[in-house]
Amino acid sequence: MSVNRAIGIMTSGGDCAGLNAVVRAVACAAHEQYGWKVYGILDGTSGLITRPLRYVELGGSAMDSSCLRSGGTFLGTTSKGDPLQFPMPDGSYRDFSPEFAEGAKMLGLDAVVVVGGDGSMRITSELCRRAGLGMVGIPKTIDNDVHGTDYAVGFATAVDVATEALDRLHSTAASHHRAMILEVMGRDAGYIAMTAGIAGGADIILVPELPYTLEEVSHKIRAVLDTGRSHVVIVVAEGVRREDGQSAVITYSGGEKRYGGIGHYLADRIAGMAGIETRPIVLGHLQRGGIPSARDRLIASAFGTAAVDLVAEGAWGRMVAWKSGTVTSVPLEDVTTGARLLAADDVLVCTAKALGIYTGGSAPFLKVSSAAS
Ligand code: F6P
Repeated sequence: MSVNRAIGIMTSGGDCAGLNAVVRAVACAAHEQYGWKVYGILDGTSGLITRPLRYVELGGSAMDSSCLRSGGTFLGTTSKGDPLQFPMPDGSYRDFSPEFAEGAKMLGLDAVVVVGGDGSMRITSELCRRAGLGMVGIPKTIDNDVHGTDYAVGFATAVDVATEALDRLHSTAASHHRAMILEVMGRDAGYIAMTAGIAGGADIILVPELPYTLEEVSHKIRAVLDTGRSHVVIVVAEGVRREDGQSAVITYSGGEKRYGGIGHYLADRIAGMAGIETRPIVLGHLQRGGIPSARDRLIASAFGTAAVDLVAEGAWGRMVAWKSGTVTSVPLEDVTTGARLLAADDVLVCTAKALGIYTGGSAPFLKVSSAAS
């Protein structure tokens, strides 16, 4: 790509820690390695759709190291409304792809780098295809549920936050001889719950992928109490269903539904069944905010610079990915197939079971072979 080319970068979908580090890495690599102009598009695709256009020019030197340390996304983001079929006040739907294409042309963009989950990348790749623009994706989500990559930006920090919450809950649980239930995010995937639960020493970890029964949960609590310990710590992922198979959901004003409430549901039932005072805690958006962990800064930096290389190659329609300790790329069509879920024989699940943690499900214990592979 020649020196006078221009690329846009946007953050899309729910925010998380490490997004500013990604933007910094893209801007730095584009300037340092290729001498391109970089525009930060504000509020996801809407910065190119609305008029006047909303963007900031990102100079390499302006992207100092404070971006590594800051939470959220200074470009803004949106997780509402699909611009390919945007809900209008009169109940109709409108396609904003012509406005997107015109906006990109006004800015002279050759390509767009999208930092998002699978949904954002699917929508933006279609907008770019219609606009005749190149597009490269960078996975981000605390849920870590993007196919094709072992890690997405934001997951590591969310796990650290949830682990610290568990560390803090152990002491208050012990003082009051209680069961504390920490409800964590993750949508339909149990990666945050399972990872933080192991790291934070939980006795019970419930994830959407593995069925549980209240009887088994109560049995595990009683087994812990029988050892002489008077407190129990439980992690539950927000997407875990009630025993009747229904999701615990909160409806916000405007009718928007989000997962929430499974911790309270469990606390109500477990207290009576297991005979222990129980308190639920919802960790919520604390998992998305604040200072990125060192690991997220590293993944963000590696992903951002690799994405710029993909743009230079013209490797359109690909997403950078972390696989077996290295950065690679995968085709977007392999990624935008819905959420990646925790498998019953995932190393995390096997580790939890081998530690004696109740997880539901019926995965076998992990057997590590001493034979060289
Ligand atoms: O996908 C990220 C996530 O934080 C989920 O874990 C959670 O269910 C959802 O977004 C919350 O969305 P909102 O920010 O709209 O409440």
